[in-house]
Amino acid sequence: MYLIMSEDLFKNIISHSKEYGFIFPSSDIYDGLSAVYDYGQNGVLLKNNLKEYWWKSMVQMHENIVGIDTAIFMHPKIWKASGHVDAFNDPLIDNKDSKKRYRADVLIEDYMAKLDEKIEKEVEKSRKRFGDSFDEKLFRETNPRILENKDNRNVVEVRFKKALEASNLDEIKKIIEDCEIVCPVSGSKNWTDVRQFNLMFSTQMGSVAEGADTIYLRPETAQGIFVNFLNVLNTSRQRIPFGIAQIGKAFRNEIVARQFIFRMREFEQMEMQYFVRPGTEMVAYEYWKNTRISWHKKLGLGEDKYRFHDHLKTAHYANAAVDIEFDFPFGIKELEGIHSRTDFDLKQHQELSGKKLQYFDPELNENYIPYVVETSLGLDRLFLAVLSAAYTEEKLENDTRIVLKIPPVLAPIKIAILPLVKKDGLPEKAREIFNQLKLDYHIVYDEKDAVGRRYRRQDAIGTPFCITIDYDTFTDHMVTIRERDSMAQERIAITELSTYFSDKLSWKTILN
Ligand code: GAP
Repeated sequence: MYLIMSEDLFKNIISHSKEYGFIFPSSDIYDGLSAVYDYGQNGVLLKNNLKEYWWKSMVQMHENIVGIDTAIFMHPKIWKASGHVDAFNDPLIDNKDSKKRYRADVLIEDYMAKLDEKIEKEVEKSRKRFGDSFDEKLFRETNPRILENKDNRNVVEVRFKKALEASNLDEIKKIIEDCEIVCPVSGSKNWTDVRQFNLMFSTQMGSVAEGADTIYLRPETAQGIFVNFLNVLNTSRQRIPFGIAQIGKAFRNEIVARQFIFRMREFEQMEMQYFVRPGTEMVAYEYWKNTRISWHKKLGLGEDKYRFHDHLKTAHYANAAVDIEFDFPFGIKELEGIHSRTDFDLKQHQELSGKKLQYFDPELNENYIPYVVETSLGLDRLFLAVLSAAYTEEKLENDTRIVLKIPPVLAPIKIAILPLVKKDGLPEKAREIFNQLKLDYHIVYDEKDAVGRRYRRQDAIGTPFCITIDYDTFTDHMVTIRERDSMAQERIAITELSTYFSDKLSWKTILN
């Protein structure tokens, strides 16, 4: 049961992450670096497990998907070809009084979300008032306040969509003015004009004397896949449809970097490009939409926490795009994107590189540039989704505890080995069990403090099982296993431990 409201909950999750070695601000002793974070000793284990969950399901379990790992530095022409030099922009606007900078599109989206919220609140209020006799459909269709908010929202949405499509920055500013959107800091409507801001970081390769070239830190991992399409095709036995996946760092000079690891300037993506025959891309798009959302749901964070959100404006490379959104403590936000990228990228690379990026389809007896459906998940956002859904402040009979209810197979530490006391041969026996299990699982040994306090420490980092070794262990050759969520305890023979854990900590618990 949550004891606190969302805003406080989010603050508590952030401080818990730091206190228990999950996430530290980058360059902490220099007071941090904006929107850059480091993963600590527990964070890196959880992150690695999330990568493994994704890699297994995408690469290991799909015969027709292979994985690669490409360099962050790439030829600068790649970003010209991909459209990122010219079109990877966000519209920004400054408030002249607070000097704060915002994404103009986000200000409008937040305004529309507030109208949606008002509508839902109105419905909820009346549902409570009228109870069983409440006719929600009729109410939504006739209540004047709802109709007014709905109309208002629709008008804004239509104008906004048009403005985005035409990249009409004056109109975007006009919408902000007409909606009387104020700066959350100064409360004023004193806005600058809207400008485009390119999100790519650049640096120099080679010394100035040699004639340095401007290169970019990749803003997405996908381009490393596109430019290796031929290499993989020629060196594997893959035939269309097939996919290429990779996990790696991406960099974006985000205008407004907020909400902890949700929007970072250096982050990690897990992307897969699925190459298909032109004309079949919408079938693949639907397949991946459904496959990806059920992959998320198998994590057991709550089926109702996910929803699809179709893009109002697709990116410069896409003809259809949908987000899988997640209910984070600060609102429902994008977790993963699924994009139908047409043949845009391969075609562009073919043109700028002069290399034929085509596939000979033996069934059709013709060459074509394949179409691509992409699945693109932010690893850090997935981490935040798991952490925020797992974080639980629980009221017990005479106590409270903070417990991370992370799916056991993903937990950073799987088992804690706790001798009841640190004398009489109990630590030695505990070490024997530690050595028996350490090859298979990340485990910790802890003999400090009363056992209850040691349980709390493990709860706080999400360790699903604690093994306690007591005096009886010497005679019955059994130990007590305490399960994290139920706190139930059971006695298990030491010889049975491997079988016991191999069931409960198997990938089969979430992958099938
Ligand atoms: N290759 C397509 C692509 O990059 P995107 O929607 O811009 O598409 C895909 O990004 C995913 O990457 C997002 O759904 C999100 O999970 C993650 N992501 C994007 N920008 C991010 C940022 N600044 N910080 C953390 N994750 C980010």
